Amino acid sequence: MSEEKKSGVRILGIESSCDETAAAVVEDGRRILSSVVASQIEIHRKYGGVVPELASREHLRQIVPVVREAMEEAGVEFEELDAIGVTQGPGLVGSLLVGITYGKTLAAAMGKPLVAVNHLEGHVHAVFLEAFRKGEEPKLPAVCLIVSGGHTVLYEVKASREDDGGPFAYRKLGGTRDDAAGEAYDKVAKLLGLGYPGGPILDRLSSLPNPTLPTFRFGPIKIRGNPLDFSFSGLKTAVLYHLREHPEYSEEIRKREELLREGHRNFEELMPLCSPKTLALVREFQRAVVRDLVDRTMSAVAQCEVGTVLVSGGVSANSALRSIFGRHARATGVKVLFPDRSLSTDNAAMIAAAAFAGFQQKRFADTGLNARASMPLA
Ligand code: KG4
Ligand code: ZN
Repeated sequence: MSEEKKSGVRILGIESSCDETAAAVVEDGRRILSSVVASQIEIHRKYGGVVPELASREHLRQIVPVVREAMEEAGVEFEELDAIGVTQGPGLVGSLLVGITYGKTLAAAMGKPLVAVNHLEGHVHAVFLEAFRKGEEPKLPAVCLIVSGGHTVLYEVKASREDDGGPFAYRKLGGTRDDAAGEAYDKVAKLLGLGYPGGPILDRLSSLPNPTLPTFRFGPIKIRGNPLDFSFSGLKTAVLYHLREHPEYSEEIRKREELLREGHRNFEELMPLCSPKTLALVREFQRAVVRDLVDRTMSAVAQCEVGTVLVSGGVSANSALRSIFGRHARATGVKVLFPDRSLSTDNAAMIAAAAFAGFQQKRFADTGLNARASMPLA
């Protein structure tokens, strides 16, 4: 009889759905023992977006060292793991397959169970991981906004019944009909010659003091049908038309594009080439996106009569989104929870945390596990 196990359930999470190769060890779905993320931003930057073939090749290069680093950082041996959790989808099939194949092989070689995880469910767990870290227990039911480069979607999240495959049950309330919010940030940054990814730089430029007021306003985004759906492609087109109608922007855009081509992509390098007018345009774009995300989320809160909002995904790192949600939280008494910025963007700690529920329910994947490009949560 083996000695009684003193540690909790330790799961190695693996994430490779897009352009981050990540591995993490999480105990009992709550405590992060390690979290390693190898970002491919530098590789995709010069193409202005993620190139799927390059992404899978880079995952192949990174997966072994990233997992090794996560295990070392956690101080856990492979034999001590209780399970391996891997992202099954949604995402780029070629990229997902790298993580899945590695996870399957490791699970088979070590005789450990494998748990397939929905990437979106991972983002939900990122908020919980952060709350647990602060000693908080988010109250359910909640409305969850997942907002990233690939997704903009609203769910109602409830505690599931034992037999639901929990811990959570989801009801989709709305989602984007075209671009995701992060995609709109990335496309607008491209139009403005501000490089890739667009979110972080546009966010920082919006926060700069700037006395110049925009000479225009983007009106509220109109949606026919479900008012909890989103649509950001019109906003991107509005920015495009605005730039076309105002040739005075083109010289600075050309100069910034030249800098980008020379490999100067930092905020500090690009910022001096942004006129007050550009800063005003960027701030107005951000105001329109953030207002839309917050308004629709708060409508969902009213519709579902919940007291908690969970916000996750890359765009949840946005400073204006955080402060405006914070303002709404103070005004309405609704609790709005965000992950730490390191858990907002893709990572594997959230995948390991989500895998814990599957582990408890013995929902194990077999060797036939395959990648799913699209994989709805509800
Ligand atoms: O979750 P994530 O790492 O990957 C996807 O699943 O897409 O999100 C990346 C997206 C990119 O579109 C990036 O521009 C956006 O999140 N993003 C931001 C910010 N930081 C990252 N958007 C707005 N403000 C930010 N601070
Ligand atoms: Zn993601």
